[in-house]
Amino acid sequence: MTAKNKTTYVCQNCGADSAKWIGHCPSCGEWNTYREEIIAGVQPSASPIPGAAKRKPELLSGIEINDNERLSTGLKEVDRILGGGLVKGSLILMGGEPGIGKSTLALQIALAQKDKNVLYVSGEESEGQVKLRARRLPGENNKCFIYNETELESIISQASVLNPDILIVDSVQTLQSTILESSAGSVSQVRECAAMLLRYAKQSDVPVILIGHITKDGSLAGPKVLEHIVDAVLQFEGDGNHLFRILRPIKNRFGSTAEIGIFEMETGGLKEITNPSELFINRDRELSSGTAIAATIDGMRPFLIEIQALVSSAVYGTPQRSSTGFDIRRLNMLLAVLEKRAGFRLGVKDVFMNIAGGIKVSDPAIDLAVVSSILSSNLDAPIEKDIAFAAEIGLSGEIRPVARIDQRILEASRMGFKTIVVSGYHRNLKEQPGINIRAVNKIEGLVRLLFA
Ligand code: TYD
Ligand code: MG
Repeated sequence: MTAKNKTTYVCQNCGADSAKWIGHCPSCGEWNTYREEIIAGVQPSASPIPGAAKRKPELLSGIEINDNERLSTGLKEVDRILGGGLVKGSLILMGGEPGIGKSTLALQIALAQKDKNVLYVSGEESEGQVKLRARRLPGENNKCFIYNETELESIISQASVLNPDILIVDSVQTLQSTILESSAGSVSQVRECAAMLLRYAKQSDVPVILIGHITKDGSLAGPKVLEHIVDAVLQFEGDGNHLFRILRPIKNRFGSTAEIGIFEMETGGLKEITNPSELFINRDRELSSGTAIAATIDGMRPFLIEIQALVSSAVYGTPQRSSTGFDIRRLNMLLAVLEKRAGFRLGVKDVFMNIAGGIKVSDPAIDLAVVSSILSSNLDAPIEKDIAFAAEIGLSGEIRPVARIDQRILEASRMGFKTIVVSGYHRNLKEQPGINIRAVNKIEGLVRLLFA
């Protein structure tokens, strides 16, 4: 390496670069995100990968693939959202905020592989720390290798020797390639290391799971800059205070992005939730005003959630509006509709709204349950426990149909609900055994149905 070092300024948010420092990133619009990074005088893409030169172009018709060559992760939920397991030679990025459970899930996958070689590289925890964690987790794998290393070249050379069935790298922000002089976690390191791992995956046919942290303020080079490099991005979401986690594919070259996986963090690791409705609603609750059950859909999965509202006379001059798990602007819109179209004087009331379990929902089909819970609290009249809701509310107060209503009705019926309130504008609704479908067109109709 005799060539002279080059420095460049890289936006730590989106990865755009510039020859000189600039305050405002023209690419992503963020301010003050440019940092100087040194690049050694070597073309990063010229980095040697064993066997790289041996590849030749192949005829598409001549390429043989085996569709059954997906490798199970050992966790049904993860397999399902990947579209049936890990595709050989794919690079999967698992992103999420620190502490959400990425290392735990990755180690659980490693331990669930019976008689398969797994190389788990941890740049964050020592071998002993990984062992301590593994003791708490289910599964046992006698061929799981733990390697505490951050230098990418060493990782790839060890992987080439060991030839594992799965390579797990925790985390991309700790990796450092010797061909770049910038520090670990900088955009150029993150990008180059991911590109090298991608080449390793493609050439060795080993699936690679790469973990990446995202922080709320984006101070670390986020996995955002990697999204176009990797084959799949799985985002781990959840509220640190709550015990459940959602694994959501943001990008998936080998499957759909409509599936989600739900997990619960327990003392013995992450447990798959196969029946999410049971987690989010409490069937044994006491009958009280201000609670309504919504049949929502996230990804492909229908489940029921509990909406809670509290309406009280404003103590201060300006009424307060607060919402957890639901867009506050949408809440304000629904309150305006109730005021203007249905004559409820809510403008002088404090309104607090919460979705139980700490889940965030953006499905408009929960509007009807939100409005019902607000009306119930306002009138101090409880809603029967076995009623669920699924409809959107329009600006003129009309109750609008929502997508995949049959699945929602089925889920409510499966969970033992006797009645579901839906929009009267649905055509050919399928009757489901055990559940009564009540159609309403206007908010007045809803009030008559619930509180008459
Ligand atoms: P971790 O996997 O270390 O998060 P990440 O790698 O995303 O930063 O998970 C850390 C949290 O999970 C920590 O707060 C403790 C909790 N935890 C459990 O509740 N049960 C367990 O069995 C394990 C291993 C961790
Ligand atoms: Mg971790």
